[in-house]
Amino acid sequence: PQASLTLNPQFTIGAVDRRLFGSFIEHLGRAVYDGIYEPGHATADDQGFRGDVLALVRELGVSTIRYPGGNFVSGFKWEDSVGPAEKRPTRLDLAWHSTETNEVGLHEFSDWLGKAGSELMLAVNLGTRGVEEALDLLEYTNVPSGSTLSDQRVANGLPEPLGVKMWCLGNEMDGPWQLGHRNADDYGKLASMTAKAMRQLDSSLELVVCGSSNRTMPTFGSWERTVLEHTYDDIDLISCHAYWAENNIDLGSFLAAGHDMSLMIEEVVATADSVKAARRSDKTIKISFDEWNVWDINRFATEDAITGIGNWPKAPRLLEDQYTVVDAVVVGSLLISLLNHADRVSSASLAQLVNVIAPIMTEPGGPVWKQTTFFPFAVTSRLAGSTALTSRLVSDTYETSAYGSVKIVDAAATTDALGTSVFLVNRSVDSASTVTIDVSGLGNVAVVEAVSIFDDDIHATNTLASPDRVSLREVATSPIVDGVLTLSLPPVSWTAIRLE
Ligand code: AHR
Repeated sequence: PQASLTLNPQFTIGAVDRRLFGSFIEHLGRAVYDGIYEPGHATADDQGFRGDVLALVRELGVSTIRYPGGNFVSGFKWEDSVGPAEKRPTRLDLAWHSTETNEVGLHEFSDWLGKAGSELMLAVNLGTRGVEEALDLLEYTNVPSGSTLSDQRVANGLPEPLGVKMWCLGNEMDGPWQLGHRNADDYGKLASMTAKAMRQLDSSLELVVCGSSNRTMPTFGSWERTVLEHTYDDIDLISCHAYWAENNIDLGSFLAAGHDMSLMIEEVVATADSVKAARRSDKTIKISFDEWNVWDINRFATEDAITGIGNWPKAPRLLEDQYTVVDAVVVGSLLISLLNHADRVSSASLAQLVNVIAPIMTEPGGPVWKQTTFFPFAVTSRLAGSTALTSRLVSDTYETSAYGSVKIVDAAATTDALGTSVFLVNRSVDSASTVTIDVSGLGNVAVVEAVSIFDDDIHATNTLASPDRVSLREVATSPIVDGVLTLSLPPVSWTAIRLE
């Protein structure tokens, strides 16, 4: 297969918001307990946070981290998670049928974020709660002092407000599995009231309203339209969530996950813009793709799910998917899709970060290791420049059972004052693809870095027993001839090229 790209700094998509490289920590499974937090671990600091995990979170390069859920947030009482740790209540988490001790709460998590160098994105509970509790939490986090709840924060040891900017108005409220699930009209009204009230308290917020839990939801499209008709003037972003897995589909279609993600983004943009047109509004709604990843949801439903009135484990092993080479290639391709929509997607969260469908895994009392998916995320976050370029991609195509004709090669490019980065995926399962990149518009540049993920065994994984089985490979590139760089991409591979 063949593909060609033409890069020129004058052909841009838009600015790349660093929030595109966000992630997500939910009180779920071993994400927090035995994940980021394990007092007694050899690397734990004085607050019980694992230093080895923090080092990998920093290396991954995550900007914003969404917290504390996910489905968990729809039954969460934020007050349980502040104040003296020994006085905090132990609660049943209905979303994951687990016990939540609240040992790690808002203050501890914000301290951890400071150590990780990431920004907090908070979700409010619009499942079992409403406007009043959202306002209370906002007063606690963002008001400097002088009111009961802000003074309570000060008394609890945080003299400065957290100044949280990004807020999710609930989580996946379109999903029948969600505590407090309701229809688009009812949610839209609640989200609008909540947003107006929160802005009355703090006008500087960036508010995210819930879009669809995935593109196959029966209400996808109509949900966005109805919710935006209620909330258009009150919010800034609408969320998209989506997960893909090889087990649920054929390999060719799985490799086209980035194509599916692009369709979802473009369909939500079209819906948001139709509401904009109907209102003659000059405001444009952006997308927060605040849950995306490879996740075998069927395995969770059949093997992991916990039941029983007397069975509420603490920090159980849940959603601990082991990622393969092909999963990493798909994660790289999903980042390509996000970059190619940088004009409309200004925030995104890889779901999730540690142990739970995560690029970083831990063993209690033992080591931390990188899953295969760590590599494309870390490299894209490190190399992505401040402006996304149109790549003017022309590629051979292949037929997929799920999406029809899809490009075999997909690509994204970014640039900044220091150089240009190109990210490529070859979706062919059996052939190398030849890609020519016209870089003559970039001036006198050379390849300074070229790394790939590929393997003879596309199902190879990194595990506790074999933590370094899969890693990045440096690839040799041929010299640029007459302004054209020619590359051969192995089958089922993801590649990043840095030109300076
Ligand atoms: O990320 C795991 C779960 O996936 C989240 O809790 C939920 O929002 C989504 O369905």
